[in-house]
Amino acid sequence: MANIGQNYSSDFSIEQNWQDYSEEEHAVWRLLFERQQRLLVGRACPEFLDGLGALGVAAEGIPDFRRLGQVLDAATGWRIAAVPGLVPDDVFFAYLAHRRFPSTCFIRRRDQLDYLQEPDIFHDICGHVPLLMNPVFADYMQAYGEGGLKALGLGHLQHLARLYWYTVEFGLIATQEGLRIYGSGILSSAGESVYCLEDRRPNRIRFDLRRVMRTRYCIDDFQQTYFVIDDFQQLFDATRPDFAPIYDEIASQPDIEPDALISSDRKFDQASPSRLNGGKKMGRRLTAAQV
Ligand code: PHE
Ligand code: FE
Repeated sequence: MANIGQNYSSDFSIEQNWQDYSEEEHAVWRLLFERQQRLLVGRACPEFLDGLGALGVAAEGIPDFRRLGQVLDAATGWRIAAVPGLVPDDVFFAYLAHRRFPSTCFIRRRDQLDYLQEPDIFHDICGHVPLLMNPVFADYMQAYGEGGLKALGLGHLQHLARLYWYTVEFGLIATQEGLRIYGSGILSSAGESVYCLEDRRPNRIRFDLRRVMRTRYCIDDFQQTYFVIDDFQQLFDATRPDFAPIYDEIASQPDIEPDALISSDRKFDQASPSRLNGGKKMGRRLTAAQV
């Protein structure tokens, strides 16, 4: 959690000080990067893999935000702002609304490869930034930021946060080739990258805006339910309407538990049953609200 320190400016931005990373920190990056690289071919959606390639984020080591920001800006007008950790919600939303992605700078330690309580630079840069190279997703993230400021004013942050959780962080997408990952919380987790697609246990349900907004989530274990979109345009179109009347409508409806199914759910049928293996959980990951 960001500490309201004297050293931060009002937007909580800091300097990345790229030259100060140690060889050990770069080595941890390489370990994480190479492991996810192997896992994500055939599991991450093509838009993510394309973005990762085009960004030139690589196995060599922790990237310099200045270089990365130039590539990103040229593609979609997004930039990266270095922050010390989670920032207050209004600050976070304002960043997104201005097409700036707040990224942490620190990297987890070698003994935390699978388990981390808060977002680090690997999650923020490798998980989130590649999709910001995609024009439709880039616009969705900006709209989310604007919607966040509005939801704060309306007292419906909780409903909107669930949308972020189940799309930006833990979303799945149905492609011609089969089910793929686009959620950053999954993409930066070795265990969940496999679990979300191949384990029998979690629910995989077709995206429905109201259903998502009513669904509670767990921050300290793999998800019990994933929502599947057809493509980013569907997500963008579904979230375009004014949420104010939707918030009013769902305010009177009960929350849905993370593992529950309801009668209107449309389950996503796995395209390739051969990949189902009832897999084992491979290390927990703990996440926080803005991961
Ligand atoms: N349409 C939403 C609103 O009125 C804004 C939004 C767009 C929120 C996309 C999230 C994602 O509030
Ligand atoms: Fe995140």
